[in-house]
Amino acid sequence: MTAKLIDGKEIAKKIREGIKKEVSAMAKKPGLAAIIVGENPASKIYVGIKRRTCDEVGIYSEEHKLPEKTSEEELLELIRKLNADDKIHAILLQLPVPNHINSEKALSAIALEKDVDGFSPVNIGRLVSGNESFVPCTPKGIIRLLEETGIEIEGKNAVVVGRSNIVGKPTASMLLNRNATVTVCHSRTKNLGKITKQADILVVAVGKANMITKDMVKEGAVVIDVGMNDVDGKLTGDVDFENVKEKASWITPVPGGVGPMTVAMLLENTVKIYNEIEIK
Ligand code: GUN
Repeated sequence: MTAKLIDGKEIAKKIREGIKKEVSAMAKKPGLAAIIVGENPASKIYVGIKRRTCDEVGIYSEEHKLPEKTSEEELLELIRKLNADDKIHAILLQLPVPNHINSEKALSAIALEKDVDGFSPVNIGRLVSGNESFVPCTPKGIIRLLEETGIEIEGKNAVVVGRSNIVGKPTASMLLNRNATVTVCHSRTKNLGKITKQADILVVAVGKANMITKDMVKEGAVVIDVGMNDVDGKLTGDVDFENVKEKASWITPVPGGVGPMTVAMLLENTVKIYNEIEIK
């Protein structure tokens, strides 16, 4: 079998076009504030892409770049200021933050109604208990890719490789909420290939180039690759795409799969917050 491509780039483009239309009819502009602490190069790239995409669809955005040595209190002070700012509907704290800052404390300080990433403990609790008010953008994008492609989730064996708070855990919760049978694998999992080979839907978010090989994938599986690894200057996924595509039924490319969807879902969440705050 040769897999069909799940074209995240095209699906995300359609979503952005819809948002642009919706925003152009709004009385005010939705506003997003992105906070970045320190010098993580990948974070700087992600935030740059997020801001450019906001410009493209007419969402107002601000970037708050804080130096590495910023104290926790200074960060909390900025968050409190943005919580009270009427121009700002959505607040995003780019992760990771430097070690001297307690990320849970910082994320909890974001006003619940402005928590565009759904990373606050309250929104995580809601997600796990089946109430998906504000869900993290990458997991939301993964589910949307499956839905847009017409892939049924209910009753499927879904295996998520990676247990991060940003992707692995919330993706597992969203799949479970849709009645998949979910297994979460991680760095201490024994016989990883034996488990991934059971997957009807395989989601890989590990950060290790080409770690999922053809022998680890079931014939006809749907493979979602969240990896973004730099291999000699080339953006490379966690899945050995060239070989795995010969076995899967559907597969996301890297780039052009999950990445553009994450940004599209951020815009969608920003507009959702705007509508909740401004229209009520
Ligand atoms: N770091 C890596 N991915 C993300 C994301 O989607 N949102 C935030 N805030 N930080 C991240």
